[in-house]
Amino acid sequence: ITLKRAYHEKVVEHYNNPRNVGSFDKNDPNVGTGLVGAPACGDVMKLQIKVDDEGNIVDSCFKTFGCGSAIASSSVATEWVKGRPMDEVLTIKNSDIAKHLSLPPVKLHCSMLAEDAIKAAVRDYKEKKAKAAGSSSDDR
Ligand code: FES
Ligand code: FES
Repeated sequence: ITLKRAYHEKVVEHYNNPRNVGSFDKNDPNVGTGLVGAPACGDVMKLQIKVDDEGNIVDSCFKTFGCGSAIASSSVATEWVKGRPMDEVLTIKNSDIAKHLSLPPVKLHCSMLAEDAIKAAVRDYKEKKAKAAGSSSDDR
């Protein structure tokens, strides 16, 4: 496989050996699923988290239909969220991922997908929990 030299070696490395590719059962009450798309290119990323009772992310996986940078970004995202408290990963910025992978400016939206997917996964998990608790009270 030949990749454009413009890609930083870390992108190529994550593209060739993506970490944590896969799916969890989205109906599992301990799983949060983030499904996001990039309007700019039509690429789609699914990132899932598995959360324990203390609110820590114990596992994460992704499936990305997108460019090499998007795949590398989601691979990094799953590595970064594992083992961390759910609320802490909301501070992960796409710029951190882009910097880590040395993404060029035209590829910034690819790392944006990863940030969005993390947030969407946490939101999904929280919504699920709120529903499961059968809270009739508005928790906002
Ligand atoms: Fe993979 Fe840093 S190169 S997490
Ligand atoms: Fe669309 Fe990378 S070109 S996510």
